[in-house]
Amino acid sequence: MQYGFFDDDRREYVITRPDTPLPWINYLGTDGYFGIISNTAGGYSFYRDARLRRLTRYRYNGVPTDAGGRYLYLRDRRDGHFWSPTWQPTRTDLDEYQCRHGLGYTTIRSRHRDIEATVRFFVPIDQNLEVWDLSLLNAGEETARLSVFSAVEFALWDAWDDATNFQRNLSTGEVEVVDGIVYHKTEYRERRNHFAFFACSEPLVGFDSQRDEFLGRYHGWDRPAAVERGESGNSIAHGWAPIGSHHVAVSLEPGERRRILFALGYHENPSDRKFDPPDSQAIDRTTVTPVIASFLDPGHVDEAFQALEDRWSRYLGVLQVDTPDVHTNRMVNIWNAYQCMVTFNLSRSASYFESGVGRGMGFRDTNQDLLGFVHMVPDRARERILDVAATQLETGGAYHQYQPLTKRGNDAVGGNFNDDPLWIVLAVAAYVAETGDFAILDEPVVFDNRPGTEAPLFEHLDRSIQYTLDRLGPHGLPLIGRADWNDCLNLNTFSDEPGESFQTTTNRDGKVAESVFIAGLFVLAAAEMAQLAHRIAANEIARRCEQAAEGMAAAVARHGWDGAWFLRAYDHFGNAVGSHDDSEGQIFIEPQGMNVMAGIGIGDGRARQALSSVHERLATDHGIAILEPPFTRYRLELGEITTYPPGYKENGGIFCHTNPWVMIAETMIGSGDRAHDYYLRINPSARAEQSAIHRCEPYVYAQMIAGPAAPSHGEAKNSWLSGTAAWNYVAITQWILGIRPTLDGLRLQPVIPADWDGFRAIRRYRGATYHIEVRRRGRGNNVSLLVDGVPIEGTLVPAAAGGEVQVEVVLE
Ligand code: BGC
Ligand code: NOJ
Repeated sequence: MQYGFFDDDRREYVITRPDTPLPWINYLGTDGYFGIISNTAGGYSFYRDARLRRLTRYRYNGVPTDAGGRYLYLRDRRDGHFWSPTWQPTRTDLDEYQCRHGLGYTTIRSRHRDIEATVRFFVPIDQNLEVWDLSLLNAGEETARLSVFSAVEFALWDAWDDATNFQRNLSTGEVEVVDGIVYHKTEYRERRNHFAFFACSEPLVGFDSQRDEFLGRYHGWDRPAAVERGESGNSIAHGWAPIGSHHVAVSLEPGERRRILFALGYHENPSDRKFDPPDSQAIDRTTVTPVIASFLDPGHVDEAFQALEDRWSRYLGVLQVDTPDVHTNRMVNIWNAYQCMVTFNLSRSASYFESGVGRGMGFRDTNQDLLGFVHMVPDRARERILDVAATQLETGGAYHQYQPLTKRGNDAVGGNFNDDPLWIVLAVAAYVAETGDFAILDEPVVFDNRPGTEAPLFEHLDRSIQYTLDRLGPHGLPLIGRADWNDCLNLNTFSDEPGESFQTTTNRDGKVAESVFIAGLFVLAAAEMAQLAHRIAANEIARRCEQAAEGMAAAVARHGWDGAWFLRAYDHFGNAVGSHDDSEGQIFIEPQGMNVMAGIGIGDGRARQALSSVHERLATDHGIAILEPPFTRYRLELGEITTYPPGYKENGGIFCHTNPWVMIAETMIGSGDRAHDYYLRINPSARAEQSAIHRCEPYVYAQMIAGPAAPSHGEAKNSWLSGTAAWNYVAITQWILGIRPTLDGLRLQPVIPADWDGFRAIRRYRGATYHIEVRRRGRGNNVSLLVDGVPIEGTLVPAAAGGEVQVEVVLE
């Protein structure tokens, strides 16, 4: 069962029926103004912070699903029949329907009663607004007389307060309507300097700004009274629920087209220029009206859209591949890269599953996301690294999260996750490998946002390494703290209070529970750190890191091996977790992937053995499960992981983030076939035919696919905002296709399936463009390199001064 298809030439996914198993969403905006938009125009918008600057309302987990959106109604004035050209909210049967999700825009086209309506939603670059570009075509034989109604429901800024504090907020709503533009200005009278606006390019026959006036008593968005009667109420909201709605009358001769533009946006005024006249309460519109006018101008809107397309072509142009596998091509060339940029912009804040009120930017999440977007926006990656590093604590530890608006660490959402600081080492190494910008290591960066505490970024990294070394347990393995990458493995929490948060509740001191996963991560990070240190002649630090990595690898070999796979941890009592000795949770995926990635066990056969245990015990047709067998009952000493019913999330789900670690590990032991096989099992495009089972969008990764123990094995959840995006991108591009930026330059070391005869790629890297052609001569992974026709020893392409470089790779 499929609900659409890929249009790769246009870089779009085309949805062909509105009733997808779940709302299939897309993102608008790349700078400060963002929105999520579903295939039926559901979703909401916000400025920078999905909680604190929410522009429009959305009702999560309501019925019918996907309520709240960017609504349009067309009403036939002959008989009063009306419908929504985007299907929601009226859900009228449409004669044709198509939604095209593209890069930063969504176009929905439909046909009903011979009226073809196309509406394209997008956010112009560097603008704090979204454009709804509606075209109507009369494809019938008779003159059509239509009313067009628009509707958005404003949120009163703080989305949490908006959904909870009704004793106040049902009295605070305020608007102004001037020249047909609805200005939403709740709390502008007091401490806010910002307001929202909703404007239309056409003369209006009416408007509304009070929700209940527009909808009528006990009506929903599917049947607004104003649309039913064909007449707006010209209402001015005072308290209750402010909305914006325009009413435009249109007459279309057969074959005639009409374009109507709407602009919905956010604007700030300087605090001393809020009102005009200054002693009034009326918004000073001096700076906003020119912006609005320019985006109600069709020519300008067309240019803005083209600029958006060009920007995406530039981003995606950094790496384009042509392999024998269509799923690889379209994910690498379009959708996976796009998803990585969305995680850069949104972290974990706003999706169909993330309500925008919960989380800031995760320390580990942000650093891992960076691995997937650094090549597209290196300058912004640099800025992001410095922002994140400035939240680091002097101990080398990290706040688990920081707030995007203030860029400050936030303790209220939990801390003491002992893996956190190590990820920044990987992020910085990836940034330098991409750019060659070693100077970033010298950048002075504060600790905990406190002026006067500046130290070079390099020292921050050194403290990350030291943080682990200062916290070793009885087996010489890293203490886990609250949890490691697996947020739900809470070995010191012992929570027995209903509803208590595992992320924030008081922990035991934690001098015993250790993580074999952090040990692997440490070995990897310490090796990267040593390489960085060598390059800036910090030889003493390099040596220290190398020694520490060796020591840690030895501790893993001694105390982290269960016989056929790596142990997961030791709990608070010193008992092994992830061992065949236990009845449940015998094998976990994370230490298998991470330890092999760190090179542990490659020389002595353990890596191979661990990976074959993964294959036997964890691999399913829908991806590799996180652990096996899942826990069937709550275990106080293991924490949140055992709160999930078997097969879901961290308790035996296919936690997609971890799968690429195993793919990378497989390439490290030379198994291109297995690595790519695993890659395809969770590749959303390759799963598109099973959409009825998978249910989430077929163009982006989801955090989780239900594991074999779940009744809905194969069903995805939590699409879009997941470290899965970055790691899959890294696994396929850098390890399977083997186009890998390193500190010394571009390395080419493909480990591809044996039956591929090769592939081609174009990679822009440090100012040069590499045209790469890989050809198979034998079935192995041995690389011979020709650069501009000249044979080169090894796998490293010598740095080019710029221009075009031809690289041939022969695999034998
Ligand atoms: C989820 C984790 C997530 C954590 C932090 C848990 O409930 O299962 O996947 O990392 O919350 O928000
Ligand atoms: C999602 C969180 O955002 C991430 O930080 C964590 O590593 C995974 N869940 C696994 O628990």
